[in-house]
Amino acid sequence: MHSVQVQLAEPYPIVIGHGAMARVGGLARRHLRAGGQAFVITSPTVRRHCWAPLATSLQRAGIAARVVLMPDGEPAKTMATATRLAEELARAGADRGALIVALGGGVVGDVAGFVAAIYMRGVPILQAPTTVVAMLDSAIGGKTGVNLRAGKNLAGAFHQPRAVIADLDLLASLPDRQYRSGLAEALKCGVIADARLFRRMQREAAELRRRAPGPLEAAVTGAAAIKARVVAADEREGGLRRILNFGHTLGHALESATRYRYFLHGEAVGWGMIAAARLAAKCGLLPGAEAERIEHATLALLAPLPPIRVAAAPVLRHARRDKKNAGGVLHFVLPTGIGRVEVLAGPPPEAVREALEETMALSRSGAASGRSRRR
Ligand SMILES: NC(=O)c1ccc[n+]([C@@H]2O[C@H](COP(=O)([O-])OP(=O)(O)OC[C@H]3O[C@@H](n4cnc5c(N)ncnc54)[C@H](O)[C@@H]3O)[C@@H](O)[C@H]2O)c1
Ligand SMILES: [Zn+2]
Repeated sequence: MHSVQVQLAEPYPIVIGHGAMARVGGLARRHLRAGGQAFVITSPTVRRHCWAPLATSLQRAGIAARVVLMPDGEPAKTMATATRLAEELARAGADRGALIVALGGGVVGDVAGFVAAIYMRGVPILQAPTTVVAMLDSAIGGKTGVNLRAGKNLAGAFHQPRAVIADLDLLASLPDRQYRSGLAEALKCGVIADARLFRRMQREAAELRRRAPGPLEAAVTGAAAIKARVVAADEREGGLRRILNFGHTLGHALESATRYRYFLHGEAVGWGMIAAARLAAKCGLLPGAEAERIEHATLALLAPLPPIRVAAAPVLRHARRDKKNAGGVLHFVLPTGIGRVEVLAGPPPEAVREALEETMALSRSGAASGRSRRR
């Protein structure tokens, strides 16, 4: 079992390990006020797979929690869902002493976090993530929110959890594509800040794909530690937190150019990291051999990846429209070595186009099919 501390004004732990859910009862006890009620916000799918260890732990701590269900999936990440949940809390008599436990992936965590942020102007929340993405990314850092019709995550609040409990046993039921896609964010953390994590993930790619306990625990812990460090240094995304966007400039553009229906987020980020590594090499920031290592590690972990079937022009248009690229100037987080990055505003457009087109060609070449994987 590992524990990583998020060093904010009110520090909180991320507990990571197989069987970590056993800790949730004790943590809930600590954060539940006398007379307060506990609520578990989750989805029917997640409840089916992940409820038992949480129930046991709460029961042992003498906590009778009420389950509040929300639908799963990105379309449910709306203000309407948040309103419905808040109304349900009110009907159940939740007061300021209430405690929320979010059990689920990033969608449940973001919506439940938002509800915790606004209900009675804020009640405490424990995050119990059940996907790779949620364990090493969305449950950490206090960004909560919902989508608007105008775009993703456009309404939200910062609301830090009191603890994050990442029980790796829960990942056993996660569909394979979801699982592998989550590994993209872990590898990203290695590239931006931790060469040892990168090398270990590269070396243990096959074991990681099989969800081998040791390598999985190391990858999730390593990545969560980086997210925790970055968040602690830059809680409100003033500067440093941007480095987490490595692979995301073109990754987001690929998702949005395909209307969020074709790639899983991590898959688009996988292509985005490969393109960014190639761009860094073209800009003379990164030796070509290092760019190749990033590419090979990404494919070794993620393949088969869906090929890119849109043209470069619309992808670049979507990138320029992204709210993170103010004024149409593309911002790229580019590696200058493994474990080090810098932010580059407005790299040469031809270099960007070339890097993207090469990545597209690679995606259609069969190299990403998972059959001819190299190390
Ligand atoms: N707040 C942040 O800082 C932050 C960071 C990254 C991503 N996000 C958000 O996270 C969301 C994506 O999260 P996600 O990738 O976890 O997707 P998700 O929450 O949609 O979960 C993916 C699917 O897996 C299922 N599932 C979850 N856990 C399971 C388990 N243990 N076994 C079987 N099935 C399980 C869910 O029912 C769902 O169908 C996006 O909305 C994104 O915006 C937020
Ligand atoms: Zn991401």
